Amino acid sequence: MSRIERGLKLRWHRELASSPQTHAWALNLYRAGEKHPQTVDDYFPHAHAEEPWLIEALRRHEADEARHTWLYTQAIRELGQPVEELNGTDVFNQVIRQHTDARFDIRDGMSRDEKRFRIGHFLAHAHFLEVRISQSLEWHVEACEQMGARAIGAVVAEVLADEERHVSYTRSAAMELLGSKAKEVLAIHQAGERRANFDFSQHAVRGFLARFGRRSPTHLWFGWSAQVMRAGVALV
Ligand SMILES: [Fe+2]
Ligand SMILES: [Fe+2]
Repeated sequence: MSRIERGLKLRWHRELASSPQTHAWALNLYRAGEKHPQTVDDYFPHAHAEEPWLIEALRRHEADEARHTWLYTQAIRELGQPVEELNGTDVFNQVIRQHTDARFDIRDGMSRDEKRFRIGHFLAHAHFLEVRISQSLEWHVEACEQMGARAIGAVVAEVLADEERHVSYTRSAAMELLGSKAKEVLAIHQAGERRANFDFSQHAVRGFLARFGRRSPTHLWFGWSAQVMRAGVALV
């Protein structure tokens, strides 16, 4: 990562952590991703997995994301800000799904191989989501430390520890289920995430500027956003 990119990201996350309003804006975005599994019926297909270790891992993962939703809900309330129910392009999971044709829904009549293939796709999708969110949370924890936002920093660090476990098992499980197709499927989801990341960041920066741009010197914000969009840097 270049020094410019590092500087931009830290500055952006410090700005987010600088007021209850902007901090809650970021936490609401994080919370929307955590809540996405509860709004769809094709995440965490433990009912169709065969291996006990995978059933256990998927169940634990599902419970982790529900707990993260609750942690962010509490953190936003502690900031004295409203919890917002976001949808559409404000939810990274939704954006990434628009960038691949992959399907995870499993029906009872499907063959064993087909079910394993779809679980593998889900795991590959989840893997690149988890990589991205872990990177974002790392920046955010560092920014919270620098800004003295200790309580929120502790919540985000707790979430990050789980996300790092999710990053690891989703990749190894996808490799095991997909076998010779693993490389190809992982590449599909990696490319989808890369495109979605840029779209989502642009959308987030625009949304942030529309809501909070007047709170800070305009030239600074527009300067940043222009640089960020040209560089294709993911901010949130
Ligand atoms: Fe999470
Ligand atoms: Fe996760």
